[in-house]
Amino acid sequence: MFNVNEIRKKFPMFKVKMQGKRLVFFDNAATTFKPITVINNINKYYVLQTSNSQRGDYDLCYNVDKTILETRGLVAKFINAKTEEIIFTSGTTMSINLVAFGYGMYFLKSGDEILLTEAEHASNVLPWFNIAKITGAKIKFIPLTKDGRLTIKNVKKTVSKNTKIIAIALVTNVLGFYVPIKEITLFAHSKNIIVIGDGAQYVPHKRTNVLDLDIDFLSFSAHKMCGPTGIGILYGKKMLLEKMNPFLTGGGMNDSFDIKKNVVYLDPPEKFEAGTLNIAGIFGLKAAIEFLMKIGMKNIEEYEKKLRCYAINKMKKNKNIVIYNMGAEAPIITFNKKNVFAQDEATFLNSRGIAVRSGKHCAKMLDAFLKVAATLRVSFCFYNTTEEIDILIDALKEDNFLDVYYSK
Ligand SMILES: Cc1ncc(COP(=O)(O)O)c(C=O)c1O
Repeated sequence: MFNVNEIRKKFPMFKVKMQGKRLVFFDNAATTFKPITVINNINKYYVLQTSNSQRGDYDLCYNVDKTILETRGLVAKFINAKTEEIIFTSGTTMSINLVAFGYGMYFLKSGDEILLTEAEHASNVLPWFNIAKITGAKIKFIPLTKDGRLTIKNVKKTVSKNTKIIAIALVTNVLGFYVPIKEITLFAHSKNIIVIGDGAQYVPHKRTNVLDLDIDFLSFSAHKMCGPTGIGILYGKKMLLEKMNPFLTGGGMNDSFDIKKNVVYLDPPEKFEAGTLNIAGIFGLKAAIEFLMKIGMKNIEEYEKKLRCYAINKMKKNKNIVIYNMGAEAPIITFNKKNVFAQDEATFLNSRGIAVRSGKHCAKMLDAFLKVAATLRVSFCFYNTTEEIDILIDALKEDNFLDVYYSK
């Protein structure tokens, strides 16, 4: 049974006040709070189990290796992949760069096309801009519908015989629409195109089955799913990982090298994990996935959907609010208050103890599409409540932010 009050008790951050008020945290697309089990697991590594991995014939090292292996297996189970298809990175950004520089840089040539959308986060744009510059490949943008959706029809219209990669977020962090990823991979594979998914806003909110989606690569970050910062995942199909080159080289990823410069790399995933791993992060990630699995991703998805629906229905009644992604499926609402600059409103909401995001949310090409310089973004997690939404709704009705901030 999903019980939000019980769930909230597990998060120490709910004891914290902001501006002397009850903290209402609606910036979960940026990062999430961590349950005590995650914090304890990280602590356990530093207090009781510190050692490096793969480098010692003693119990401490053996235990660390065991946890790393278990975590890799758990992540694999969580997204229905094989253990050896899970690579530990520092986060989504690093994962996408790894594919761009490990795969794109070696397999793209001048004239090939990489397809993106205008709604992508900087992390899924700038690595591809760089790869295009290095290889001579071309970047093309798949047009969005006037609501901001990516449709299979527009994918088909944009693909040409030169398209080699489609790199898209399964859910973008501003508009929050789910893309028809299964249709896209089916079509793309019929044309020998690789589909590289940014799952930063998808995996934390929806049961993910990479086999069913048939996606070639998928990146996500632990910190957006109740895990620690500095640890993320790149999933890649085994056959592609075997072809891919390492982005980083060094210790832990090679089998041998000699004075004649002969080098033999380890097999994936270790081939892509040069240097000491974020071991504490892996300990935390393990506890985070266990926590999510215990609640159940279906329960999480359903509850967050209800939260969004509740908030949208209340926000719609406020004539001063313009919502930019009314029909989105992900628990994200992007909006503005008429005649109020987004950052001013976010600062005012802070005075009421409410944390929301304002600005361009790292999706800087979306300005032209939305025709606004900045927006407010509320993003929910399964620990949020309708009472918290009511606090936001009441604060949004107030229009005295100038008095609060400029009369001092
Ligand atoms: C859609 C999307 N992609 C990529 C990222 C980058 O994630 P990270 O900073 O964890 O690497 C984010 C972060 O907000 C995101 O929302």
